[in-house]
Amino acid sequence: MNNICVMGTGYVGLVSGTCFAEIGHNVICCDVDDNKIAKLQRGEIPIYEPGLEDMVQSNVKSARLRFTTDIAQSIRESEIIYIAVGTPMSNTGEADLRYVMAVAQTIGQQLNGYKIIVTKSTVPVGTGKKIEQVIREHMKDKSIKFDVVSNPEFLREGTAIGDCLSMERAVIGASNPEAAMAIARLHEPFHTKIFITDVESAEMIKYAANSFLAVKISFINEIANICERVGADVTDIAVGIGLDSRIGDKFLQAGIGYGGSCFPKDTEALKFIAEQNGIEARLIQAAIETNDKQRMVVVDKLMEGLGDISGYKIAILGLAFKPNTDDMRYAPSLTIIPELMKRGAHVVAYDPIAQYEAPKWLPAGVEYVNGVYEAVTDSDAAIILTEWDEIKWMDLHKVMRLMKQPILIDGRNCFSLENMQGLGYYYASIGRKV
Ligand code: NAD
Ligand code: UGA
Repeated sequence: MNNICVMGTGYVGLVSGTCFAEIGHNVICCDVDDNKIAKLQRGEIPIYEPGLEDMVQSNVKSARLRFTTDIAQSIRESEIIYIAVGTPMSNTGEADLRYVMAVAQTIGQQLNGYKIIVTKSTVPVGTGKKIEQVIREHMKDKSIKFDVVSNPEFLREGTAIGDCLSMERAVIGASNPEAAMAIARLHEPFHTKIFITDVESAEMIKYAANSFLAVKISFINEIANICERVGADVTDIAVGIGLDSRIGDKFLQAGIGYGGSCFPKDTEALKFIAEQNGIEARLIQAAIETNDKQRMVVVDKLMEGLGDISGYKIAILGLAFKPNTDDMRYAPSLTIIPELMKRGAHVVAYDPIAQYEAPKWLPAGVEYVNGVYEAVTDSDAAIILTEWDEIKWMDLHKVMRLMKQPILIDGRNCFSLENMQGLGYYYASIGRKV
C-alpha cells in the first residue's frame, strides 16, 4: 500500500486516483479548482462518467480517498505523486505545458524526502527531463533524491473505470530501474501487461498510440466517402478488413470524424513535434485534414435532402463527442451546429447528458429541449451526431409521426438501411448504399 497524491482532478486524475484507492492505496486527489474540490468533498462528481460516483463514495467512506486544495501538504505526505493536469492545445498546435510546469515547481518547493513523480498527463518528448529540471531548480534541500517516471494514460471517457481497472497495458518510462519497478508493483493488482522503457519512449508511445487510432478513423472515413461513390458499404468493408488480425476490427466505425479532448490535440501536438525536428508528418496531417472535412459530410447530406435550410427547424440528436460522456471538447457538434445556423437554420438540440455543459460551448440561439421526441417535433430534418443508446433505440414510428418531414441524416450509422427504407424515411448515413 502506498501514499499517492494525484495532481489534477479532471477526467484522468479523478478516475485513476479513485482506481488506485479501489485497489487499496491511500490516495489524495488535489486540484487548484476550489469548486471542483468542494463538490467532491460533498460527494458530488463534477463530470459524467458511468460507475464513478459509487466508486468515489465507497472509497471516501473507507478513508482511502480524500480531496483537497492543500497541494503543498499533499505532496509532503506522499511517496508517489501523479501529475494528471491538462495539456491543452496552444495556438500553434503545441501542447501547453504551463499546468504541468506549475505542478513541477510546487513539487520542487515542497520536496521533503525521496519521492517518485509520475507523469500521467500526455506530454511531448523531453517533458520528463524538463520536470526534473524545474523540480531541481526549486528544491530547497538539494541533497534530496527523486525520480521522474512517465506512465501515460490510455483510458477512454465513458468506459474509464473499466479501462483503468482492467487496463490492457501499463507503459512505464524511467531512467532508474528501481523507480520503474516501484510503479510496476503499484500496477500489480490490475493484472496487466507491463512494458518498461525509457522516459522519452514512454512519452512518445502515448502520442503514437493516439495518432495511430486517429489515422485509423480517418482512413475508414475516407473509405466511406469512396464507398458512397462506387456503391459499396463501409460497414461491410470494416467487417471484411477487420477479420484480418493484422488490421483488427476496432476503430473502424465511419462517421463524422473523431472529436474529444485528446485525438485532435494530440495529433496536432505530434505534428508540431515532428516539424520542430525537421520531419514533415504527412500522414498525421492528412488524418487531421480528412477529419476536419468529415464533419461537413452531414451538412452536405442535409443540403442534398432539403435544398435550402434557411428558416428550417433542424433537430440535433446528441452533442457530446461520443456517448456516455458530458465532454464537449472538440465535439463535432461544435463545428456542425454553427454551420447550420450560419445557413439560417433554427437548431433544436438534445443530448441526454452533455446538454447541461453544451451552452457554454455552443452559440446562443440553440434551443435545448428535454428529449428526443421533443427535439424532432415539427422539425424539417434531424441529424444524429452522437450514438447514445437512447437515440439508437428511439421509436422510429413515433419520430416519423412527429417530424414535419421524415428526413434523417445519421452521422453515426445507427440504423439498418432496409429498416429505414421500409419505414419510408429519407435516410442518409455514412459510406453506405442509399
Ligand atoms: P481536465 O481538464 O479534465 O482536468 C485537469 C485538471 O487539472 C483540472 O481540474 C484543473 O483544475 C487541474 N489543474 C490545473 N492546474 C493544476 C495545478 N497546478 N495543480 C493541481 N491541479 C491543477 O483534463 P483531463 O481530460 O483529465 O486530461 C489530463 C491529461 O491526461 C491531459 O494531458 C490529457 O491529454 C491526458 N489524457 C486524457 C484522457 C481523457 O480521456 N480525458 C485520457 C488519457 C490521457
Ligand atoms: C481516446 C483513446 O481511445 C484513449 O485510449 C486515450 O486514452 C484517450 O483518447 C486520450 O488520450 O484522451 P476518447 O477520446 O475518450 O479516448 O474516446 P474514443 O473512444 O477513442 O473516441 C474518440 C473519438 O473517435 C470519438 O469522437 C469517437 O466518436 C470517434 N471514433 C472512435 C470514431 O469516429 N470511430 C471509431 O471507430 C472510434
